[in-house]
Amino acid sequence: MTAHPNLEWLHVARPLADDGFAEEVRRGLSESQKSLPCRFLYDEIGSSLFEQICEVPEYYVTRAERSILQEQSEEIIEMLPNDTALVELGSGSAEKTQLLLEAFLAKQDEVVFLPIDISRSALDASARQLLADHPSLSIVAVEGDYARGLEAISSRDHGPRLILWLGSSIGNLGRDEAAHFLSELRNDLSPEDRLLIGIDLRKDRETLEKAYDDSEGVTARFNLNLLNRINRELGGSFDTELFEHRATWQETPGRVKSDLVSLQAQTVKIVELDLVVEFDEGEAIHTEYSYKYSTDEIDSLAGEALLSRERTWLDAEGRFSVSLFAGC
Ligand code: AVJ
Repeated sequence: MTAHPNLEWLHVARPLADDGFAEEVRRGLSESQKSLPCRFLYDEIGSSLFEQICEVPEYYVTRAERSILQEQSEEIIEMLPNDTALVELGSGSAEKTQLLLEAFLAKQDEVVFLPIDISRSALDASARQLLADHPSLSIVAVEGDYARGLEAISSRDHGPRLILWLGSSIGNLGRDEAAHFLSELRNDLSPEDRLLIGIDLRKDRETLEKAYDDSEGVTARFNLNLLNRINRELGGSFDTELFEHRATWQETPGRVKSDLVSLQAQTVKIVELDLVVEFDEGEAIHTEYSYKYSTDEIDSLAGEALLSRERTWLDAEGRFSVSLFAGC
Protein backbone atom coordinates (compact mmCIF):
# COMPACT_ATOMS: atom_id res chain seq x y z
CA MET A 1 0.00 0.00 0.00
CA THR A 2 1.19 3.47 -0.79
CA ALA A 3 2.63 5.40 2.15
CA HIS A 4 2.03 9.10 1.78
CA PRO A 5 1.64 11.90 4.35
CA ASN A 6 -1.77 12.77 2.90
CA LEU A 7 -3.07 9.22 2.80
CA GLU A 8 -4.76 7.38 5.64
CA TRP A 9 -6.29 3.90 5.44
CA LEU A 10 -9.43 2.61 7.12
CA HIS A 11 -10.01 -1.12 6.81
CA VAL A 12 -13.49 -2.17 7.78
CA ALA A 13 -14.17 -5.85 8.30
CA ARG A 14 -15.84 -7.62 5.45
CA PRO A 15 -19.25 -9.06 6.28
CA LEU A 16 -18.12 -12.57 5.31
CA ALA A 17 -14.75 -14.19 4.83
CA ASP A 18 -16.11 -15.71 1.63
CA ASP A 19 -18.43 -13.89 -0.75
CA GLY A 20 -20.91 -16.77 -1.04
CA PHE A 21 -20.11 -17.54 -4.68
CA ALA A 22 -20.42 -21.34 -4.39
CA GLU A 23 -23.72 -21.21 -2.51
CA GLU A 24 -25.23 -18.59 -4.81
CA VAL A 25 -24.23 -20.58 -7.90
CA ARG A 26 -25.80 -23.71 -6.45
CA ARG A 27 -29.00 -21.87 -5.55
CA GLY A 28 -29.23 -19.88 -8.77
CA LEU A 29 -28.68 -22.83 -11.09
CA SER A 30 -30.99 -25.18 -9.18
CA GLU A 31 -34.10 -23.05 -9.57
CA SER A 32 -36.50 -23.44 -12.49
CA GLN A 33 -35.77 -19.85 -13.59
CA LYS A 34 -31.98 -19.94 -13.53
CA SER A 35 -30.13 -16.82 -12.39
CA LEU A 36 -26.78 -15.66 -11.00
CA PRO A 37 -26.27 -12.49 -8.91
CA CYS A 38 -24.65 -9.69 -10.92
CA ARG A 39 -22.11 -8.87 -8.21
CA PHE A 40 -20.17 -11.99 -9.26
CA LEU A 41 -19.54 -10.49 -12.70
CA TYR A 42 -16.76 -8.40 -11.19
CA ASP A 43 -13.82 -10.70 -10.58
CA GLU A 44 -10.48 -9.42 -11.85
CA ILE A 45 -11.21 -10.34 -15.48
CA GLY A 46 -14.79 -9.06 -15.24
CA SER A 47 -13.67 -5.73 -13.75
CA SER A 48 -11.21 -5.24 -16.56
CA LEU A 49 -13.87 -6.15 -19.15
CA PHE A 50 -16.22 -3.64 -17.51
CA GLU A 51 -13.58 -0.95 -17.96
CA GLN A 52 -13.46 -1.90 -21.65
CA ILE A 53 -17.26 -1.68 -21.86
CA CYS A 54 -16.98 1.94 -20.71
CA GLU A 55 -14.97 2.64 -23.88
CA VAL A 56 -17.15 0.95 -26.49
CA PRO A 57 -19.08 3.39 -28.71
CA GLU A 58 -22.52 1.98 -27.88
CA TYR A 59 -22.13 2.21 -24.08
CA TYR A 60 -22.92 5.92 -23.77
CA VAL A 61 -23.36 5.77 -19.96
CA THR A 62 -19.78 6.55 -18.91
CA ARG A 63 -19.19 9.23 -21.53
CA ALA A 64 -22.50 10.96 -20.87
CA GLU A 65 -21.86 11.11 -17.14
CA ARG A 66 -18.30 12.30 -17.67
CA SER A 67 -19.51 15.09 -19.94
CA ILE A 68 -21.98 16.26 -17.27
CA LEU A 69 -19.21 16.39 -14.67
CA GLN A 70 -16.91 18.14 -17.13
CA GLU A 71 -19.48 20.82 -17.86
CA GLN A 72 -21.18 21.22 -14.50
CA SER A 73 -18.67 20.53 -11.72
CA GLU A 74 -18.35 24.19 -10.79
CA GLU A 75 -22.09 24.67 -10.64
CA ILE A 76 -22.48 21.53 -8.55
CA ILE A 77 -19.87 22.68 -6.08
CA GLU A 78 -21.38 26.14 -5.79
CA MET A 79 -24.41 24.48 -4.25
CA LEU A 80 -22.33 23.10 -1.37
CA PRO A 81 -20.98 24.72 1.80
CA ASN A 82 -17.27 25.50 2.05
CA ASP A 83 -15.05 22.74 3.39
CA THR A 84 -17.24 19.98 2.09
CA ALA A 85 -15.50 16.59 2.09
CA LEU A 86 -16.12 14.24 -0.81
CA VAL A 87 -17.17 10.65 -0.06
CA GLU A 88 -17.51 8.20 -2.93
CA LEU A 89 -19.31 4.86 -2.94
CA GLY A 90 -17.58 2.28 -5.13
CA SER A 91 -15.00 4.73 -6.37
CA GLY A 92 -13.05 2.26 -8.53
CA SER A 93 -10.56 4.27 -10.56
CA ALA A 94 -12.16 7.59 -9.45
CA GLU A 95 -11.56 8.82 -12.98
CA LYS A 96 -14.78 10.88 -13.17
CA THR A 97 -14.46 12.00 -9.56
CA GLN A 98 -11.27 13.77 -10.46
CA LEU A 99 -13.36 16.32 -12.36
CA LEU A 100 -15.27 17.22 -9.20
CA LEU A 101 -12.13 17.17 -7.07
CA GLU A 102 -10.50 19.67 -9.38
CA ALA A 103 -13.48 22.00 -9.09
CA PHE A 104 -13.29 21.65 -5.28
CA LEU A 105 -9.56 22.35 -5.29
CA ALA A 106 -10.16 25.53 -7.26
CA LYS A 107 -12.52 26.77 -4.54
CA GLN A 108 -11.03 25.34 -1.32
CA ASP A 109 -7.41 25.32 -0.14
CA GLU A 110 -7.70 21.80 1.14
CA VAL A 111 -9.92 18.96 0.11
CA VAL A 112 -10.57 15.65 1.84
CA PHE A 113 -11.59 12.71 -0.34
CA LEU A 114 -12.92 9.51 1.23
CA PRO A 115 -13.33 6.80 -1.40
CA ILE A 116 -15.09 3.62 -0.21
CA ASP A 117 -14.36 0.52 -2.24
CA ILE A 118 -14.20 -3.21 -1.70
CA SER A 119 -11.05 -3.39 -3.85
CA ARG A 120 -7.86 -2.42 -2.06
CA SER A 121 -5.87 -2.44 -5.30
CA ALA A 122 -8.30 -0.06 -7.01
CA LEU A 123 -8.17 2.29 -3.99
CA ASP A 124 -4.40 2.16 -3.83
CA ALA A 125 -3.93 2.88 -7.53
CA SER A 126 -6.40 5.76 -7.64
CA ALA A 127 -5.10 7.31 -4.39
CA ARG A 128 -1.54 7.23 -5.67
CA GLN A 129 -2.57 8.88 -8.93
CA LEU A 130 -4.71 11.57 -7.29
CA LEU A 131 -2.10 12.49 -4.67
CA ALA A 132 0.61 12.78 -7.30
CA ASP A 133 -1.55 15.20 -9.28
CA HIS A 134 -2.98 17.21 -6.38
CA PRO A 135 -0.69 18.12 -3.45
CA SER A 136 -3.44 19.86 -1.43
CA LEU A 137 -5.63 16.76 -1.46
CA SER A 138 -5.94 14.45 1.57
CA ILE A 139 -7.30 10.97 1.09
CA VAL A 140 -8.86 8.63 3.61
CA ALA A 141 -9.09 5.35 1.71
CA VAL A 142 -11.85 3.16 3.12
CA GLU A 143 -11.52 -0.49 2.18
CA GLY A 144 -14.84 -2.22 2.67
CA ASP A 145 -18.47 -2.50 1.68
CA TYR A 146 -20.67 0.63 1.48
CA ALA A 147 -22.55 0.10 4.73
CA ARG A 148 -19.55 -0.54 6.95
CA GLY A 149 -17.47 2.06 5.15
CA LEU A 150 -20.10 4.74 5.74
CA GLU A 151 -20.44 3.70 9.36
CA ALA A 152 -16.68 3.99 9.86
CA ILE A 153 -16.66 7.43 8.25
CA SER A 154 -19.65 8.71 10.21
CA SER A 155 -18.11 7.81 13.54
CA ARG A 156 -15.28 10.24 12.78
CA ASP A 157 -15.52 13.92 13.46
CA HIS A 158 -16.57 15.62 10.29
CA GLY A 159 -18.03 18.68 8.60
CA PRO A 160 -20.31 18.76 5.57
CA ARG A 161 -19.99 15.91 3.10
CA LEU A 162 -20.98 15.24 -0.45
CA ILE A 163 -21.67 11.54 -0.98
CA LEU A 164 -21.16 10.50 -4.58
CA TRP A 165 -22.70 7.46 -6.18
CA LEU A 166 -21.88 7.51 -9.85
CA GLY A 167 -22.12 5.34 -12.94
CA SER A 168 -25.79 4.41 -12.56
CA SER A 169 -24.73 1.72 -10.11
CA ILE A 170 -28.20 2.28 -8.65
CA GLY A 171 -29.52 0.61 -11.82
CA ASN A 172 -28.49 -2.82 -10.57
CA LEU A 173 -31.00 -2.51 -7.72
CA GLY A 174 -34.73 -3.05 -8.11
CA ARG A 175 -36.78 0.13 -7.61
CA ASP A 176 -37.82 -0.82 -4.06
CA GLU A 177 -34.30 -1.88 -3.14
CA ALA A 178 -32.97 1.40 -4.51
CA ALA A 179 -35.44 3.41 -2.42
CA HIS A 180 -34.53 1.36 0.63
CA PHE A 181 -30.80 1.85 0.09
CA LEU A 182 -31.25 5.62 -0.35
CA SER A 183 -33.38 5.89 2.78
CA GLU A 184 -30.59 4.19 4.72
CA LEU A 185 -28.13 6.70 3.30
CA ARG A 186 -30.53 9.47 4.17
CA ASN A 187 -30.71 8.42 7.84
CA ASP A 188 -27.05 9.27 8.05
CA LEU A 189 -27.18 12.70 6.43
CA SER A 190 -26.70 15.86 8.47
CA PRO A 191 -28.57 18.96 7.26
CA GLU A 192 -25.54 20.22 5.33
CA ASP A 193 -24.74 16.90 3.65
CA ARG A 194 -25.77 16.15 0.10
CA LEU A 195 -25.98 13.12 -2.19
CA LEU A 196 -24.92 13.31 -5.84
CA ILE A 197 -26.19 10.35 -7.84
CA GLY A 198 -25.68 9.44 -11.49
CA ILE A 199 -28.82 7.77 -12.87
CA ASP A 200 -29.33 6.52 -16.41
CA LEU A 201 -32.52 7.62 -18.14
CA ARG A 202 -35.19 5.71 -20.04
CA LYS A 203 -34.74 5.91 -23.78
CA ASP A 204 -35.51 4.04 -27.01
CA ARG A 205 -35.11 0.28 -27.18
CA GLU A 206 -32.49 0.29 -29.92
CA THR A 207 -30.04 2.54 -28.08
CA LEU A 208 -30.46 0.57 -24.86
CA GLU A 209 -30.17 -2.89 -26.36
CA LYS A 210 -27.05 -1.88 -28.31
CA ALA A 211 -25.52 -0.30 -25.20
CA TYR A 212 -25.83 -3.68 -23.48
CA ASP A 213 -24.85 -5.80 -26.51
CA ASP A 214 -22.11 -3.89 -28.31
CA SER A 215 -20.91 -4.87 -31.77
CA GLU A 216 -17.36 -5.66 -30.61
CA GLY A 217 -18.81 -8.24 -28.23
CA VAL A 218 -17.15 -6.81 -25.12
CA THR A 219 -20.38 -6.93 -23.11
CA ALA A 220 -20.96 -10.50 -24.28
CA ARG A 221 -17.48 -11.46 -23.02
CA PHE A 222 -18.17 -9.65 -19.73
CA ASN A 223 -21.34 -11.66 -19.19
CA LEU A 224 -19.90 -14.98 -20.42
CA ASN A 225 -16.94 -14.52 -18.07
CA LEU A 226 -19.31 -15.52 -15.29
CA LEU A 227 -19.47 -19.03 -16.76
CA ASN A 228 -15.69 -19.11 -17.07
CA ARG A 229 -15.45 -17.98 -13.47
CA ILE A 230 -17.59 -20.96 -12.44
CA ASN A 231 -15.26 -23.18 -14.48
CA ARG A 232 -12.15 -21.67 -12.86
CA GLU A 233 -13.31 -21.44 -9.27
CA LEU A 234 -15.78 -24.29 -8.92
CA GLY A 235 -14.63 -26.83 -11.50
CA GLY A 236 -17.48 -26.16 -13.92
CA SER A 237 -17.64 -27.60 -17.43
CA PHE A 238 -19.36 -24.69 -19.22
CA ASP A 239 -18.48 -24.34 -22.91
CA THR A 240 -18.96 -20.62 -23.52
CA GLU A 241 -19.33 -21.33 -27.25
CA LEU A 242 -22.62 -23.02 -26.41
CA PHE A 243 -24.09 -19.96 -24.66
CA GLU A 244 -25.00 -16.57 -26.04
CA HIS A 245 -25.28 -13.17 -24.36
CA ARG A 246 -28.65 -11.46 -24.78
CA ALA A 247 -29.84 -8.01 -23.68
CA THR A 248 -33.56 -7.16 -23.71
CA TRP A 249 -35.17 -3.82 -22.89
CA GLN A 250 -38.32 -4.35 -20.83
CA GLU A 251 -40.36 -1.15 -21.11
CA THR A 252 -42.34 -2.32 -18.09
CA PRO A 253 -40.82 -2.15 -15.52
CA GLY A 254 -38.12 -0.16 -17.32
CA ARG A 255 -34.96 -2.21 -17.27
CA VAL A 256 -32.44 -3.92 -19.51
CA LYS A 257 -32.38 -7.64 -18.70
CA SER A 258 -29.11 -9.48 -19.42
CA ASP A 259 -29.15 -13.23 -19.91
CA LEU A 260 -26.92 -16.09 -21.00
CA VAL A 261 -28.91 -18.29 -23.35
CA SER A 262 -28.14 -21.97 -23.94
CA LEU A 263 -27.82 -22.57 -27.69
CA GLN A 264 -28.72 -26.25 -27.37
CA ALA A 265 -29.95 -28.81 -24.90
CA GLN A 266 -26.93 -29.64 -22.75
CA THR A 267 -25.68 -30.85 -19.38
CA VAL A 268 -23.06 -28.98 -17.36
CA LYS A 269 -21.21 -30.41 -14.37
CA ILE A 270 -19.86 -28.34 -11.50
CA VAL A 271 -17.45 -30.66 -9.72
CA GLU A 272 -16.90 -28.68 -6.53
CA LEU A 273 -20.63 -28.36 -5.98
CA ASP A 274 -21.26 -31.96 -6.90
CA LEU A 275 -23.95 -30.53 -9.16
CA VAL A 276 -25.26 -31.42 -12.61
CA VAL A 277 -27.25 -28.71 -14.39
CA GLU A 278 -29.53 -29.46 -17.35
CA PHE A 279 -30.31 -26.82 -19.97
CA ASP A 280 -33.02 -26.87 -22.62
CA GLU A 281 -32.31 -25.28 -25.96
CA GLY A 282 -33.05 -21.55 -25.57
CA GLU A 283 -33.10 -21.69 -21.77
CA ALA A 284 -31.67 -18.57 -20.10
CA ILE A 285 -29.58 -17.84 -17.04
CA HIS A 286 -30.52 -14.34 -15.92
CA THR A 287 -27.45 -12.38 -14.78
CA GLU A 288 -28.19 -8.66 -14.49
CA TYR A 289 -30.83 -5.94 -14.52
CA SER A 290 -29.99 -2.35 -15.39
CA TYR A 291 -32.93 -0.18 -14.34
CA LYS A 292 -33.57 3.10 -16.16
CA TYR A 293 -35.46 6.09 -14.78
CA SER A 294 -37.65 8.92 -16.01
CA THR A 295 -37.45 12.25 -14.16
CA ASP A 296 -40.79 11.41 -12.53
CA GLU A 297 -39.39 8.08 -11.41
CA ILE A 298 -36.35 9.83 -9.92
CA ASP A 299 -38.72 12.06 -7.97
CA SER A 300 -40.76 9.16 -6.63
CA LEU A 301 -37.54 7.37 -5.70
CA ALA A 302 -36.45 10.47 -3.80
CA GLY A 303 -39.87 10.81 -2.20
CA GLU A 304 -39.82 7.24 -0.95
CA ALA A 305 -36.38 7.77 0.55
CA LEU A 306 -37.39 11.12 2.13
CA LEU A 307 -34.90 12.97 -0.01
CA SER A 308 -35.56 16.17 -1.86
CA ARG A 309 -34.07 16.63 -5.32
CA GLU A 310 -32.40 20.02 -5.39
CA ARG A 311 -31.17 19.92 -8.96
CA THR A 312 -30.63 17.65 -11.93
CA TRP A 313 -28.09 18.08 -14.71
CA LEU A 314 -28.35 16.22 -18.03
CA ASP A 315 -25.81 15.67 -20.80
CA ALA A 316 -26.34 17.56 -24.08
CA GLU A 317 -28.21 14.63 -25.62
CA GLY A 318 -30.43 14.07 -22.58
CA ARG A 319 -29.34 10.49 -22.11
CA PHE A 320 -28.07 10.55 -18.54
CA SER A 321 -28.75 12.45 -15.32
CA VAL A 322 -26.77 13.58 -12.31
CA SER A 323 -28.92 14.76 -9.39
CA LEU A 324 -28.19 16.49 -6.11
CA PHE A 325 -30.33 15.41 -3.15
CA ALA A 326 -30.72 16.66 0.41
CA GLY A 327 -32.54 15.05 3.32
CA CYS A 328 -36.05 16.46 3.80
C1 AVJ B 1 -21.97 -0.85 -13.57
C2 AVJ B 1 -24.19 -1.54 -13.14
C3 AVJ B 1 -23.77 0.62 -14.02
O1 AVJ B 1 -25.74 -1.66 -15.66
O2 AVJ B 1 -24.87 -0.14 -16.94
C4 AVJ B 1 -22.66 -2.48 -18.23
C5 AVJ B 1 -22.97 -2.69 -15.67
N1 AVJ B 1 -23.43 -4.33 -17.51
N2 AVJ B 1 -22.85 -3.29 -19.27
C6 AVJ B 1 -24.78 -1.01 -16.08
C7 AVJ B 1 -23.01 -3.14 -17.11
C8 AVJ B 1 -23.32 -4.42 -18.84
C9 AVJ B 1 -23.39 -1.27 -15.48
N3 AVJ B 1 -23.33 -0.79 -14.06
